[in-house]
Amino acid sequence: MPQMKKQWIIIVVGLFLLATCAKDVYSPDACFKEDVLPIFISNCTFSGCHNTTDQAAGYDLSNYDGIMTGVNPKNPLLSKVYTTVKGNNPSMPKDYPKLSTKDVNTIKIWIRMGAPNSSNCKSCDTINFTFSKRIQPVMQTWCTGCHNSGNSSGRINLSNYNGVVGAIAGNKLLGSIKHLPGFSPMPKNAGKIL
Ligand code: HEC
Repeated sequence: MPQMKKQWIIIVVGLFLLATCAKDVYSPDACFKEDVLPIFISNCTFSGCHNTTDQAAGYDLSNYDGIMTGVNPKNPLLSKVYTTVKGNNPSMPKDYPKLSTKDVNTIKIWIRMGAPNSSNCKSCDTINFTFSKRIQPVMQTWCTGCHNSGNSSGRINLSNYNGVVGAIAGNKLLGSIKHLPGFSPMPKNAGKIL
């Protein structure tokens, strides 16, 4: 009965669409400097990896031009920086934990948008300025790939309040972030975040 077949096709197509929706969590948009660059710097530029000095496999993922060598704008599936980090068993980051689903999706969204070199996309909210809302997310995007409880580079763990306050009390944090003379410039092997 053709009528019956048609219903089945609709059900199968519907289930397929549902399955693809569940896999992808889309956020409205992604800003290169604030959202995308920190993911690469915090997860890919370790010593011996994709920083300006080492350029493992010819990739310097510490800046826009370098990242673009692995990007095919509007085409995530033809972009090395996306295909190597997506899925359950990604080949990258090699020897380090895989990226979160949120980070992988941010990269995908940004490539779909055409991979613009965008910055200052978000407005500054001076009213809700709290550690958890404003400081922790910055640490998470830029620093905790190297400074967490398991891998506390320079014995500094920036994944929680006490760790961040400790680094401030040791008078190390701001100088490192601002790349002032006498401080280790951070994020390591990358440009200033400000
Ligand atoms: C790619 C890895 C990496 C990233 C990303 C990174 N760091 Fe570091 N950091 C290190 C390593 C390795 C050391 C210890 C060696 C050194 O000082 O260079 C260190 C040391 C430090 C120190 C101690 C410096 C000193 O003088 O003792 C501070 C403070 C610091 N990092 C802050 C940060 C902050 C803030 C961020 C994010 C904005 C950040 N780091 C991102 C790897 C990293």
